[in-house]
Amino acid sequence: MQICVISGSPKGEKSVTLQYVRFLEEAFLEHTFSVVHAGRDIRTLERQEEVWSGVLAAVKESDGVLWATPVYVMLVPAQLKRFIELVGERNAGETFFGKHAACLTTSIHYFDHTAHAYLHGVCDDLGMRYTGSCSAHMQDLEKEAFQEQLVLFVSDFLEAIAEERPILREFSPLPAISPHYTPTIPPAAVDTRGKRVVILHDAESGSDLEAMVRHLAACYAGSVQVAHIRDAMMNGGCLGCCRCAFENACVYDDGFRAFWEEYVVPADILVMAGTVRDRFLSAAWKQFFDRSFFSGHVPAFKGKQVAYLVEGPLGHLATLREVLTSLVMTEKANLVGIVTNEPDPGEIDAALHTLAERSVRLADRGYIAPATFPAVAGHKIFRDEIWGGMRATFKADDRYYRQHGLYDFPTRNYLQRIGTRATSLMMCIPSVRREVVKNMPTYMIQPLQKAIETSRVLAERRKRR
Ligand SMILES: Cc1cc2nc3c(=O)[nH]c(=O)nc-3n(C[C@H](O)[C@H](O)[C@H](O)COP(=O)(O)O)c2cc1C
Repeated sequence: MQICVISGSPKGEKSVTLQYVRFLEEAFLEHTFSVVHAGRDIRTLERQEEVWSGVLAAVKESDGVLWATPVYVMLVPAQLKRFIELVGERNAGETFFGKHAACLTTSIHYFDHTAHAYLHGVCDDLGMRYTGSCSAHMQDLEKEAFQEQLVLFVSDFLEAIAEERPILREFSPLPAISPHYTPTIPPAAVDTRGKRVVILHDAESGSDLEAMVRHLAACYAGSVQVAHIRDAMMNGGCLGCCRCAFENACVYDDGFRAFWEEYVVPADILVMAGTVRDRFLSAAWKQFFDRSFFSGHVPAFKGKQVAYLVEGPLGHLATLREVLTSLVMTEKANLVGIVTNEPDPGEIDAALHTLAERSVRLADRGYIAPATFPAVAGHKIFRDEIWGGMRATFKADDRYYRQHGLYDFPTRNYLQRIGTRATSLMMCIPSVRREVVKNMPTYMIQPLQKAIETSRVLAERRKRR
């Protein structure tokens, strides 16, 4: 069988993910794997019709498509995102229709599931038959146990093709939302109280998004900086070279860094506005997110109030919502809200006004919502990965983690370790153990009592402030 591998990495032959494909070539000598370097060659694919036709021919001739891509900022790299957009823009979906598809990613397992869900949804939209996803940690290929699982995964994919396995679509088709938003209520201006408000967008002229951006900007009484992300003058997507790891400095010498310093860094309230293209925001926005990787794992939005404006069916895009919300949380910022153009114009007006008001209020009070699973889990993944090996090259991350006490392994809390050991030993005494088992709920709430006792005093103190 002939498998068309669509490689998402900008690193081409030097891609970590591609090494997994090379492994498969050796493991399945009776099959051919032809690689399309969508990530590396995206510029050429955009510009040269004959190269694009060559790719479509490779897909057409194939028996199945294997998306082999790294996870970049919770999704696929911007370059692969752009490739998927091109399929839509150039009406090339037919070439993919009916083919079996699978996806293989490498990453450090941070939001690999959202990258998978995105590709799965895209395949469903193209009428492909998605057999499954395989997520490898970057170094998994070194382990024989993983190699075996990878072979089983691909065997299943090949069998699905051979037996023409029927597969149901998992992600429902997206509803079209026609442009309909015209602001109806003149905005009552919200005093920005000296907070710096920045709205970044990729709105097309005359779009709902443009109207939403304009209306939100008008909701604030003070000055608001509004900028199109094209003004960042990026020369291209993140190359994945990781040369930024040492000093948080990107190899690109284009306008991105200056744009970042001018708009993102000083913002107290940062609003990002984008239009849904296929199942995510545009490749341009994805490129913006990928390029922000120059700051490594240092939380770039720390302490900011962040909001999104989305033009498109966000209500049907749980994965996009998950990425947008988790991105804010991981960056140690607070999500004020997301306003879309899905409801009636009156509701959009009201939502934008509320967003403006809330963003200032929360910025004033310094509220940052406590992290939930994505950021808590993310912290532990990054901490372990950086300390466990990445710090040899990711020097800037290492410095930041040390300075901010982020190497907070439980093993370093010696007092707690002694306490746990002592409690554990006491549990060996049958009478103590019986008493604890009987009163477990009481013991669980006991350490919290002090907080309740001091709550009133603290409330009085807060009132006086
Ligand atoms: C810009 C950028 C963003 C990344 N984002 C993520 C991420 O969100 N989650 C993750 O687990 N790994 C992330 N990684 C790590 C890559 O997924 C990992 O290094 C991958 O193996 C690279 O594969 P490649 O060599 O095929 O490009 C990121 C790496 C880069 C350069």
